[in-house]
Amino acid sequence: MPTATSPQHARIRTLEGYHEAYHLSIHHPNEFWAAVAEPFTWRRKWDTVMESDMAAGETTWFAGARLNITENCLDRHLPARGNKLALIYEPNDTKERHLRLTYRELHQRVCQFANVLLNNGVEKGDVVCLYMPMIPELSIAVLACARIGAVHSVIFAGFSATAIADRVNDAQATLVITSDGLNRGAKQIPVKRVVDEALETCPSVRKVVVVEHLGWPVQMEEERDVWYHEEAADVAKTCPAEEMKAEDPLFILYTSGSTGKPKGVVHTTAGYMVWADYTFRNVFQVEENDVFWCTADIGWVTGHTYLLYGALLAGSTTLMFEGIPTYPDAGRFWEVIDKHSVSIFYTAPTAIRALMAEPLDNVLSYSLDSLRVIGSVGEPINEEAWHWYNEHVGKGRCPLVDTWWQTETGGIMISALAGITPSVPARAGLPLPGVWPVLLRQDGTEIEGNNEEGYLAIKQAWPGIIRTTWGDHNRAVQTYFAPYPGYYFTGDGARRDENGLYRIIGRVDDVINVSGHRFGTAEIENAINQNPNVVESAVVAYPHEVKGQGIYAYIICREGACKGEADKPRVEASIIETVVAEIGKIARPDKIQLVTGLPKTRSGKIMRRILRKVAEGETSNLGDVSTLLDPAVVDEIIQGAK
Ligand code: WT7
Repeated sequence: MPTATSPQHARIRTLEGYHEAYHLSIHHPNEFWAAVAEPFTWRRKWDTVMESDMAAGETTWFAGARLNITENCLDRHLPARGNKLALIYEPNDTKERHLRLTYRELHQRVCQFANVLLNNGVEKGDVVCLYMPMIPELSIAVLACARIGAVHSVIFAGFSATAIADRVNDAQATLVITSDGLNRGAKQIPVKRVVDEALETCPSVRKVVVVEHLGWPVQMEEERDVWYHEEAADVAKTCPAEEMKAEDPLFILYTSGSTGKPKGVVHTTAGYMVWADYTFRNVFQVEENDVFWCTADIGWVTGHTYLLYGALLAGSTTLMFEGIPTYPDAGRFWEVIDKHSVSIFYTAPTAIRALMAEPLDNVLSYSLDSLRVIGSVGEPINEEAWHWYNEHVGKGRCPLVDTWWQTETGGIMISALAGITPSVPARAGLPLPGVWPVLLRQDGTEIEGNNEEGYLAIKQAWPGIIRTTWGDHNRAVQTYFAPYPGYYFTGDGARRDENGLYRIIGRVDDVINVSGHRFGTAEIENAINQNPNVVESAVVAYPHEVKGQGIYAYIICREGACKGEADKPRVEASIIETVVAEIGKIARPDKIQLVTGLPKTRSGKIMRRILRKVAEGETSNLGDVSTLLDPAVVDEIIQGAK
């Protein structure tokens, strides 16, 4: 095996090249990543490439280096790609005009927004929260934060006021960026009003910048709220980029775990940049003229790493879409692909399943000739959806990449490299260079060999690894590094097949994956328990045809709160309302079953295994129930199952 890195390792083109790059990245990571990092714009190069103590949860990449990620996303491309399209925006409404920005124009707009933030008192290191629709100003604002060294924290615009307040307060944000309203299919939502409600309990926020989108009247709070278009009217279109240290935080993104409130996953500047760019170019095998469309919202990590950073770092054209796959009809995705000649399309299994359920004409009436590569992300893609996607969208000629990764990993970890490494239905595939996956037994020992199943963990630090959880490093250590010392613990179970390809089975912790979005069962239970009718609740996942997993809630009501059968719909509606207010519509339980008791052991622990089986409709084999305090509750639960 050669140990010298060459440019071919930064861009893999053959299967042999993959194996070479993989070997180098694992055995000589410093040499490998130094070569990959070389072509970026650095104000100062690093002193060390990687320094890592996995057991302590401490890792640095490119320590000593100085840079600004937006110089790498924008300025670096201006000489050769100044007139190339950087961003295409496709609005929700087909009658509205799309917008296209070249790299030069995007650069100017980012600088302009950065100046507005500076004029409104944002300083390097401040946290800025964004609660916005999928409009160009969201991308521009995120990059503007990075330009001036502010830490961005995007909050998905489907979260409730309470959820916003939790995140803003945890991050101690000083400024919030929002818009008057947002379009979502046939619906319009007054987002500024949601922000106003949230900020009633957020004393750290001094300013709110409002982007005009729908032209709706909004309540502007004097001293606090400013209109973006007024502030931007006479600011410069240039803005020097702040010089950042490699390990300065770039962003916080809140994500759910198995315990307590969502935690702020922190990614830093240099390692994340290198990982986003490297994984983007290699997984999708990007070429100069590609038009990349990632359908994820920027409120999730997929939107951060691929729609925004990965695509722009690589100098590609990225498309952002404000709408939903079924508006005005179920052909919208395919219409947009034809309209903008999209060549790389990246979406989630839940969207595929929703569209599969519609008449096939919706997809067959579009040519989709421009497509070259198609991708999937967010949850395991079932075989039926894989084949439909491959046959009707990829037309059997586009490699399909099933990409496994997490908010915490910063970028894709296990996936086929399009057209190069094997792509098999229901397999994410082989690890990317830099990723050393292992399967662990419950006792933490490694399972060797193929055709084996275990807990998926990662044995060596990669550039995009989570650095900390905002404001509470110990929480990151406890969650990811302490469970199996020396490894990063993913929370997923996986199988290694006879060819060494990984198949992701799903979460092994109390995390539910609804349409590719993560919720902790404890988080939903906490929300439900806020309802005055409720004494106790237990939430589990069950298989759902479109969402992948659905939310099933077992609830014990307060005495007298539910007066018989006829009263149940009212109580259930009130519980749903509480969850929507505490978290947002996306966490709404799909099924609610009111019960008089929950199956508990003598020590008071809820036996979720039984609740899961009932929710799945598998009541014939409940396993050992002899340790239950009151086995009779199980019969009642089976009788009342939905
Ligand atoms: C969890 C991470 C990172 C992208 C969006 C989700 C599940 C993600 C796959 C896949 C099987 C997948 C895992 C993981 N997951 N992609 N291709 N195959 N499972 O990010 O919200 O941080 O969720 O999503 O269970 O742990 P996230």
